[in-house]
Amino acid sequence: MSRLSKTMKKELAQIQPSSILAFNQEISAIPDIVKLTLGEPDFNTPDHVKQAAIKAIENNDSHYTDSRGTEGLRQAATHFLNSKYDLNYDPDTQVLVTTGATEGIFSALTAILNPGDSVIIPTPIFPQYIPVNILNGGTPIFVDTSDNGFVLSPEKLQATIEANKDTVKAIVLNFPNNPTGVTYKKDDLEKLAAVIKQYDIFVISDEIYSELTYDGTHVSMASILPEQTVLLNGASKSHAMTGWRIGLLCGPVDVVTEIAKVHQFAITSATTNAQAAAEEAFKSGPDDGQKMRVVYQERRDLLIDGLQKAGFECASPNGAFYLFAKIPAGLIQNSVDFCYDLARKAKVAVIAGSSFGPGGEGYVRISYAASTENLKEAIKRIQQYVTDNQD
Ligand SMILES: Cc1ncc(COP(=O)(O)O)c(C=O)c1O
Repeated sequence: MSRLSKTMKKELAQIQPSSILAFNQEISAIPDIVKLTLGEPDFNTPDHVKQAAIKAIENNDSHYTDSRGTEGLRQAATHFLNSKYDLNYDPDTQVLVTTGATEGIFSALTAILNPGDSVIIPTPIFPQYIPVNILNGGTPIFVDTSDNGFVLSPEKLQATIEANKDTVKAIVLNFPNNPTGVTYKKDDLEKLAAVIKQYDIFVISDEIYSELTYDGTHVSMASILPEQTVLLNGASKSHAMTGWRIGLLCGPVDVVTEIAKVHQFAITSATTNAQAAAEEAFKSGPDDGQKMRVVYQERRDLLIDGLQKAGFECASPNGAFYLFAKIPAGLIQNSVDFCYDLARKAKVAVIAGSSFGPGGEGYVRISYAASTENLKEAIKRIQQYVTDNQD
């Protein structure tokens, strides 16, 4: 290590580059591998959305926009959130267009945390919350939900807040959840909100998969506890737009005003033509995601059936596009070792459950944002692997 690099931010020593991306890259070298690794829709961005971006480029919309996002996109987005989830955000003061939900997570936690604060993180969860917390001097308090069907119970939440009352500043909720696919119903959210209301803590509610809810409709935490919720959503999953990098952050006026300072100095504004595309997506294609959802659901059912036949138990996945499956007895139980073995012997790549925090060990995350053909091939290979390797 050079003299200079030793002087850098000390929290970086606790942070490793994403193990998911590293694994994905490593196994990509295996010829003929079927990858069910990444959380990326395999659909193309809808044509009408692409056309809007082309038009913006041709119109020379190539300048910075308002740091909060274009007025047109903020209006289209708040209208979308209102019609879908009954949320009432003022487009002028309560919305930021972020560079993906990723930047929303970063800006929100950076604005909220002081060194020494702690954040309750129910796990397994999308791992980004952990390093961003640590970078901001926060301490993650993990709550393992694996013994409760991957759902945070109000009792466990209350006990965790009480045990950390002096430091706890926020709780992160992510539903439908990456990696388990589990989501919360209105009744679950109301019970959690009744606990949270008793304390001055934020809820960072990551609802990026809201449009991919299979039974019933998505209910937002922001419709139940608007005064304490910072809502994260965006176009990445609902409109198959991961590469366009458009997210939404919404919340109470004074909270958004403060987060906007971090956002402004981090990115100035989101990409102009991508904002034009997202405006079109939310305004003219609010149900684009529903068409994809029907296909995802068929794939989910295909995969559950194939995995169950191979002896895997899955959490009940009512949203997103992942199955979180328990590695059957008689196979390698360490999830990282299992994933490497499966990749090498069966040429199927899935992600180790331990990447998603406490409660994930012994499981694997399988993404069904993949073609039906690839899923069928993966099921065949996994079933053969189990037959060949189970003792
Ligand atoms: C739960 C969750 N939040 C946020 C993100 C990041 O979203 P974006 O691509 O909009 O930055 C992901 C991506 O996989 C995710 O799974």
